[in-house]
Amino acid sequence: MSEKQKSQPINKQKTTIGKKLHFEASETYKRLRTNLQFVLPLKDGKRCRLIGVTSALAGEGKSTTSINLSYSLAESGKKVLLIEADLRLPTISKLLELRSATGLSDYLIAGDRELLCIKTAKDESNLCILSAGSLPPNPSELLETPRMGELLKLLAEDYDYIIIDLPPINIVADAAIVSKYVDGILMVVRQNYDKCRAVDAAMRSLEYANANVVGFIFNCVGKTHRLGKRYLEYGEYAKMV
Ligand SMILES: Nc1ncnc2c1ncn2[C@@H]1O[C@H](COP(=O)(O)OP(=O)(O)OP(=O)(O)O)[C@@H](O)[C@H]1O
Ligand SMILES: [Mg+2]
Repeated sequence: MSEKQKSQPINKQKTTIGKKLHFEASETYKRLRTNLQFVLPLKDGKRCRLIGVTSALAGEGKSTTSINLSYSLAESGKKVLLIEADLRLPTISKLLELRSATGLSDYLIAGDRELLCIKTAKDESNLCILSAGSLPPNPSELLETPRMGELLKLLAEDYDYIIIDLPPINIVADAAIVSKYVDGILMVVRQNYDKCRAVDAAMRSLEYANANVVGFIFNCVGKTHRLGKRYLEYGEYAKMV
């Protein structure tokens, strides 16, 4: 992404998330929502699907995708928790205008559930958000502690979907680390942005981590100014890359 795209003002970014989406974009997220139910069937009496969202490089649309997918699921009546697990450059709480003094990182350090401060989205009662919390010096180590896995297990009892916004996999190890706790990983690939080699390297990292890559989201496909996404054949596509 060019610097221009990266530094979009926050107000402009807000027009590409949540309830402000235009019809066509919101329909695409509905299709993504439906596809997820098929690609991640619930087994053994499980109620919750845990899904991590990452990409090869920075700025491909992971946070935008995580927010819009979460809204779409919540609007269909599912109870959704969106976790801002990018502990380096968190943007979700800012975009959704949710302030909390503490969050995920504070919980991972201290182990006190009160520090989680989970908030409900202002305009969607089925959507809850767990903020990143204070910026820690050692995000990868924090996400790797057994406390992270235990927390997700506990939270999974209260939600139908947990969507986890992660940092880019070619830059830091966090997404590969978290992949072991989730049912599936969604890879966002921005049009005219990644080189094949970058996606290839990302897939290799996920493969080494034994991650279950359930799909690719091609972001900004064929559109320069509108929010458009396509979701293509999950497993098959993962093998091709
Ligand atoms: N489909 C889209 N249509 C229009 N703008 C988009 C779309 N997806 C993302 N953007 C814009 O691109 C920029 C980067 O998006 P976003 O913050 O979601 O990426 P990211 O992958 O989470 O970035 P980072 O790696 O820094 O966390 C933002 O300005 C966002 O508004
Ligand atoms: Mg992001």
